[in-house]
Amino acid sequence: MADTQRPSFLLAGGAVEERGDLKEIIQKKSGKVAVASPWEWDPAASIASARHEFGEHGGVNMSIEASATFSFMDSETMRRMFTGELGPDRDFFIYSRSFNPTVLNLGRLMAALEGTEAAYCTASGMAAISSVLMQLCGSGGHIVASSALYGGSHALLSHFLPKACNITTTMVDIGDVSAVKNAIVEGKTKVLYFEAISNPTLTVANIPELSRVANEKGVKVVVDNTFAPMVLSPARLGADVVVHSITKFISGAADIIAGAVCGPAWFVNSMMDMHHGTLMLLGPTMNPKLAFELCERMQHLGLRMKEHGARALAFAGRLKKLGLRVIYPGLEDHPQHQLLKSMANKEYGYGGLLCVDMETEEKANRFMNILQNDAHFGFIAVSLGYYETLMSCSGSTTSSELSSEEQRLAGISPGLVRISVGYVGTLEQRWSQLEKAVCHLKEHGLLLKN
Ligand SMILES: Cc1ncc(COP(=O)(O)O)c(C=O)c1O
Repeated sequence: MADTQRPSFLLAGGAVEERGDLKEIIQKKSGKVAVASPWEWDPAASIASARHEFGEHGGVNMSIEASATFSFMDSETMRRMFTGELGPDRDFFIYSRSFNPTVLNLGRLMAALEGTEAAYCTASGMAAISSVLMQLCGSGGHIVASSALYGGSHALLSHFLPKACNITTTMVDIGDVSAVKNAIVEGKTKVLYFEAISNPTLTVANIPELSRVANEKGVKVVVDNTFAPMVLSPARLGADVVVHSITKFISGAADIIAGAVCGPAWFVNSMMDMHHGTLMLLGPTMNPKLAFELCERMQHLGLRMKEHGARALAFAGRLKKLGLRVIYPGLEDHPQHQLLKSMANKEYGYGGLLCVDMETEEKANRFMNILQNDAHFGFIAVSLGYYETLMSCSGSTTSSELSSEEQRLAGISPGLVRISVGYVGTLEQRWSQLEKAVCHLKEHGLLLKN
């Protein structure tokens, strides 16, 4: 895959220069992946320094460019656009399956969030993931992936890509770096793919170490950062491409399905190539009206993530004291707690998800029924990152694409309840509801011994 002729045309509009710390980029280029000091960079500051778009009439909010197609002053300009001479960097747009100004603006904010040179947005998280993997791996290509992935991504890698594209995957426990190294087939493996914090097991990936191992072998590192926007910045820790399901925390309102690809400008541009680009040719386009909505929400993502994280940490600690088996990377007893601390951006906490292992699916379902229908603590629903609390039993829902053996390998207990902790109401009000549900469990002898 060649770099395009216009490598800077998707630069994150001012944010790149102000993100500072070129040392890190230089070290990366020289083959040494630097672990970014968590105190040096703040994604909220990066977003605030991205270009602000005003409305057509001077409005504080940008206008929505809700056009499928764009007009040209003359046909010569149109011709030059099709040759690639004129493009979005100079405010020339052709057709909204390719770049659209409103979607591009959200892309600039996403690039600022992740500290990447460029980004563009897609119709869903799965569209972002599948487009990136197909762009990086031609037919016959090989991927090494974490065995602990969101069910849809797991199915894409283990079923869809081999059948539809002749792209195969070896799944490994990415906590075992030597297993990752051994799974890489030099010349054939194109991508190392994992989630920064895994769905649903909340295992934290050692992003610098995995990136170093992959880069040494010429393998691109693609990280799904859906569970940890603001908390982790994988590209600053060595990853090449970061993908998101914007549907979750970034949207925050459970009303939009959307995704993003964040990475170097040459790569994002290559995805729009008229002959070989997966975004251009498969067409998983984001509607500009949704892009507008999402741009507004990006500005308070940092505040929301802090509150999701603070509530999740408080509830995780208190639930543990009440005797539940709690998995939360913010707790000191989580196996990767120190690792997460060493990689995380300051003051955004440890993420808004926690898990409670109820051991069996039946107990998990009883717990969720009490939480929703008696204690009114949250909703039984898949997805995450909503302002209300959402909970689901992963094994029978969002990880049901994995066989029981694959679930065992991924560390998913049949009774694992994944809780996406919301922030509405007061912390103590919501805690009293949660505590009530746990008391109910105790009264019915449903609580496990820790
Ligand atoms: C970690 C992760 N990545 C990707 C996706 C897919 O995102 P979308 O539903 O926006 O396609 C999900 C969905 O739950 C997810 O949890």
